[in-house]
Amino acid sequence: MLKSTIKAIEWKNDQLVLLDQRILPKSESYIICDDLSTVISSIKTMVVRGAPAIGIVAAYGVVISARSRRLNEMNVAQMEAYKCAVLGDLKQLALSRPTAVNLMWAVERMRQCFLDAYKEDFLIEILLNKAQEIHTQDIENNHYMAELASALMAKSTNKPFSVLTHCNAGSLATGGYGTALGAIRTAWKKNLIDCVYADETRPWLQGARLTAWELAQDDIPVCLNSDGAAGWLLANKNIKWIIVGADRVAANGDVANKIGTYNLAILAKYHGVKMMVVAPSSTVDMALSSGADIDIEMRTTQELTQISGLQIAPEGIDAINPVFDVTPADLIDAIVTEKGLIENPTTELMMKVFN
Ligand code: MRU
Repeated sequence: MLKSTIKAIEWKNDQLVLLDQRILPKSESYIICDDLSTVISSIKTMVVRGAPAIGIVAAYGVVISARSRRLNEMNVAQMEAYKCAVLGDLKQLALSRPTAVNLMWAVERMRQCFLDAYKEDFLIEILLNKAQEIHTQDIENNHYMAELASALMAKSTNKPFSVLTHCNAGSLATGGYGTALGAIRTAWKKNLIDCVYADETRPWLQGARLTAWELAQDDIPVCLNSDGAAGWLLANKNIKWIIVGADRVAANGDVANKIGTYNLAILAKYHGVKMMVVAPSSTVDMALSSGADIDIEMRTTQELTQISGLQIAPEGIDAINPVFDVTPADLIDAIVTEKGLIENPTTELMMKVFN
């Protein structure tokens, strides 16, 4: 867990306070969001990132929108205008990043709550309760998924083994504890794991900066590796599981996650290593029949051509920066959600759990 003094997302003194993940681990600095544009820019610029965390922040963002647009006394026409203005804000919020469906999931829950209660005197308290419920539930889900995931790992061997993870799917990326890192934390406590290999995760370096930082705080043995070293590691180290989070899971079990996850799944198949995805049901999008329909975010090519503002590639070079990829379901051994464990996912198995 993060030190108890560090909270990646906190509602404090009626404000949303976010740990700025862009500058970790160098410094622990916080951004206060008391207007919607700061919430939206914090999601877009990755002050906060990670699918469940983005959803939770968006939920608090709805509270901020509804509060800032409210007038003390409203006649019928003003009430309707208020409703339209907040619903417009919610549309903007839902567009702040495209791939993690937790964002749209949370905005939709908050939208329903707002529509049910926008005429109530206690609207803001009602919305805040809902956002806090989404936040708390996410942490509870993480712990439950970690139990399911570690029980599955325990079945595969009785000797300690290593795991490899990609990106950051830990406390920082969720309400707290983590999806993939939650599973790893619990498996470590059960003495199943001897070492966690953390892909650095180019270009944004979530693995080097965030996963390594989180695991080191827990005294879990963590070894950082370049993304390109994954094949060598699977061939030469005692890695039994690759464990990752997800940004969106389609109805057939295809998984969108941080760019490079698909490469890992292919490597895992070749080396007989198992591939596990840990994600709450808020990451599952049963409206999409396959991963081909998932909107993959393309980010600025400066993330590739520069490091900390320093140009490393030739000026003006052509570059492409898709930040997620889709791993086909048949390369995945298990999807772990709080609603249950799906081994060798197919549409039929997904429907049993999610319909
Ligand atoms: O671009 P990011 O850092 O928001 O991407 C995050 C990931 O891809 C994570 O692996 C995923 O959201 C799971 S987080 C529990």
